[in-house]
Amino acid sequence: MQLKWNKDRILVIPDLQAPFHHKDSLDFLEEVAGAIDATKVVSIGDEVDQHALSSYSHDPDGHSAGREYELASKFMQKLYARFPSAVACYSNHSDRIFRKAFNAGIPRAYLRSIKEFMGAPDGWEWRSEWRIHDIVFTHGDSASGVQPHRLLAQSNMRSTVIGHHHSSPGVAYLANEQSCIFGMNVGCLIDPTQYAFHYTKYNRHKPVLGCGVIVEGSPSFIPMKINSRGRWSRQ
Ligand SMILES: [Fe+2]
Ligand SMILES: [Fe+2]
Repeated sequence: MQLKWNKDRILVIPDLQAPFHHKDSLDFLEEVAGAIDATKVVSIGDEVDQHALSSYSHDPDGHSAGREYELASKFMQKLYARFPSAVACYSNHSDRIFRKAFNAGIPRAYLRSIKEFMGAPDGWEWRSEWRIHDIVFTHGDSASGVQPHRLLAQSNMRSTVIGHHHSSPGVAYLANEQSCIFGMNVGCLIDPTQYAFHYTKYNRHKPVLGCGVIVEGSPSFIPMKINSRGRWSRQ
């Protein structure tokens, strides 16, 4: 018997929220991409945090918006060097500057695109969602609950991959008489000790670090296991 899977092996980069990303995020992503011999890369959004531009209160002792942008941009250049082409999703954090401008009454024509302000190479492109082999890739901020990936797969009526929900990664399958689909949440690769995440300090459910892969049609969440020093244990 020959299975008729598509032959793509997709790496899904989760929320990085630079410059508050985990120190080992790039090495981990590169290792996973190499292990599956990735043919496509999807970035699920929240590549940068823009904490200083948040409409919620932000740390007065943190970086200025300009300094944060500078640090995030440096990280993004390293990400592009390792992954020169990817499709990426619009997300609540990358949209912060547009919401800020909207609230201040500044027309869109005056603003740079995400691709421009992210300093991205030609190989990167952002959209609100992508469809690859009939799987939807979208940031996931339109759903909530314990299994938002399951909910979004259900409402899209097709397999769906999301990020945004840092503490509930995983894969859920749904089926009816005609088809079987999945929802996957790819977690995050943030550094939870950074001041930008102090607002989550007392949350019962902590961020789960890792990324997503879809190998010839089969989705998996790959956890990045951490040692007692908070570094990737490489196990
Ligand atoms: Fe996020
Ligand atoms: Fe998000």
